[in-house]
Amino acid sequence: MTTTDAATNTSDAALAVEVRDLHKSFGRLEVLKGIDMQVDHGKVVCIIGPSGSGKSTLLRCVNLLEQPNSGSVKVNGIELNDPDCDIDTVRASIGMVFQSFNLFAHKTVLNNLTLAQRKVLKRSRAEAERIAQENLERVGLADKINAMPSQLSGGQQQRVAIARALSMNPKVMLFDEPTSALDPELVGDVLGVMRSLADEGMTMLVVTHEMQFAREVADEVLFMDGGVVVEQGPPNRVIGDPQQTRTREFLHRVLNPVHANE
Ligand SMILES: Nc1ncnc2c1ncn2[C@@H]1O[C@H](COP(=O)(O)OP(=O)(O)O)[C@@H](O)[C@H]1O
Ligand SMILES: [Mg+2]
Repeated sequence: MTTTDAATNTSDAALAVEVRDLHKSFGRLEVLKGIDMQVDHGKVVCIIGPSGSGKSTLLRCVNLLEQPNSGSVKVNGIELNDPDCDIDTVRASIGMVFQSFNLFAHKTVLNNLTLAQRKVLKRSRAEAERIAQENLERVGLADKINAMPSQLSGGQQQRVAIARALSMNPKVMLFDEPTSALDPELVGDVLGVMRSLADEGMTMLVVTHEMQFAREVADEVLFMDGGVVVEQGPPNRVIGDPQQTRTREFLHRVLNPVHANE
């Protein structure tokens, strides 16, 4: 058992992520209208759905960037709304990768990877650098350790962002459209890294428009629209044989982009 396990008192029986009847409004705009979903340890759940359906807001409620209006969010069995919840510990157990890479532009790749390790996890410089190196190798960028972010392609920057998140030894990784800002030829490398993480057994919650990735890597797919989960299940059902009209229409639009504006 790691120190994080001891500190958060998690049990292996608990779900990695468990969301029950989650509601979130911004002013009078109700964005999440009662979301129920869960991610089991070691599983990959992909969330698909049109722009504005609340996907990012859901992820932001899971990693405490947004405060829900009501409902329950548990990460590794810990209720985030519980006044006894140690927010910093929970947050340290969740890795987040955004559409925009969010690297510190004025720091080297190495310093991007060691900063939070040292500040949040209080690791020594030597240990943080060792872990940074390991995770850069994991994403295929060991040779970029001393580069500045501006010297890297978008795909490389995103892989550095993944390595940075992994350096915190997260229990769960959240990805919010990690390839949407990339040139098409760079998407494959990032998806490849995510696929290998999934193969290693990482627990992942991924918002994506990459249907082939969702189909091949996800254990479960959720289709969200208008702040509700319209349909969920194994990818070959939700993507391969959707039951709901809204899911079918969305998939038709995503899979036939040429016809989208007709
Ligand atoms: N901080 C915020 N303040 C006000 N409205 C917001 C905020 N964040 C998101 N929204 C609104 O919530 C809705 C859902 O947004 P979002 O969760 O980003 O959807 P998605 O990620 O599925 O595109 C949108 O209408 C968006 O404009
Ligand atoms: Mg979004």
